[in-house]
Amino acid sequence: MAKRIVTDLDVASKKVIVRVDFNVPHKGDVITDDNRIQAALPTINYLLEKGAKVILLSHLGKVNHKEPEKTEADKAKNNMAPVAKRLQELLPNNKVTFVNATRGEELETAINNMQDGEVVLMQNTRYEKGESKNDPELGAYWASLGDLYVSDAFGSVHRAHASTVGIPSHLPSAVGFLIEKELKYLGQALDDPARPFVAVLGGAKVSDKIAVIENLLKIADKVIVGGGMAYTFYKAKGWNVGTSLLEEDKVEVAKEFMAKGGDKLVLPVDTVVANDFDNPTDVKTVDCDKIPDGYMGLDIGPKTVELFTKELAGAKTVFWNGPMGVFEKEEFAKGTIGVCKAIASLDDCMSVIGGGDSASAAKNLGYADKFTHISTGGGASLEYMEGKELPGIAIIEEK
Ligand code: 3PG
Repeated sequence: MAKRIVTDLDVASKKVIVRVDFNVPHKGDVITDDNRIQAALPTINYLLEKGAKVILLSHLGKVNHKEPEKTEADKAKNNMAPVAKRLQELLPNNKVTFVNATRGEELETAINNMQDGEVVLMQNTRYEKGESKNDPELGAYWASLGDLYVSDAFGSVHRAHASTVGIPSHLPSAVGFLIEKELKYLGQALDDPARPFVAVLGGAKVSDKIAVIENLLKIADKVIVGGGMAYTFYKAKGWNVGTSLLEEDKVEVAKEFMAKGGDKLVLPVDTVVANDFDNPTDVKTVDCDKIPDGYMGLDIGPKTVELFTKELAGAKTVFWNGPMGVFEKEEFAKGTIGVCKAIASLDDCMSVIGGGDSASAAKNLGYADKFTHISTGGGASLEYMEGKELPGIAIIEEK
């Protein structure tokens, strides 16, 4: 069954609460990447054109409510005001009012004074302690501020919070165009991939990727594993990993994956190692079974880039999540660059990046437009590819 989308709602003159994911990278007041704001614009513009009153809710960063001495500093660091400023620049013809409150008179008055075609952006939802706990009182209160609910916060739909699950349990709801698009591409990869389907998984920890490796071993034709995770697999093969990242308690899981996956699971064959992470004075490439004592693996090597490129050749569907090495450092970025280029140059292939670091890598390298879809959700796209039900989507009404 398909979810209702925003075009299924009668929104004219209605107060429409839209949960967006404006959790954007920022340094102080400067937003360093406004991609997530841009990604929400089609839904916002549609609603404004239809004469709705658009009430935007989002979280920004994390606010520690468990240690009260940290709460105020976190709030100051994650104030939504710069986001409102950027949004107003992107919507020059519509009034955007920022409300520096998450409940109470100031917020209610601003909403009651809205004209059709105007926007109110509320302060960070995580200023409220009850947001992350899905406090029922908070969800009911926020729902009381609007007539309809639209979820377009794909990056946050894996969180069962008051703003993602609490509000829509009280209001007629639909998904926005961003979620519609995310579900189209991720859904196609998961449910009906053109074959061969190759998954490329990197990143530091096996523990973060167990569920996705497990599910993709069932669905994909090849599962390529690189990044820090690979060293736990080498350990499972009985090889020395020096001082490389290792999750001892996941060695058995890695063994099971290798047994289950057989040829389907593709691991690096060489690795770039260094004597020190912060101050590497000796950097060299070795075969994966020859990592010297005292050295740590920080990237895949050139033979592995060649191997992964060969495995990717002819792929009709690719899902990529996670860098192949410490790509923030130039000397350990070649593996991620190589894999990114290999995917970007595939013809007639639906290539999807599952958010996070791999999305930044593709953008920084200038390859973003070579991918079919770059998801705005890191954690959310991974949980989706794990085959899990995402609570912020499950709660939205069916057509
Ligand atoms: C993200 O950046 O992945 C989403 O905005 C979710 O943020 P969170 O991990 O802080 O819930």
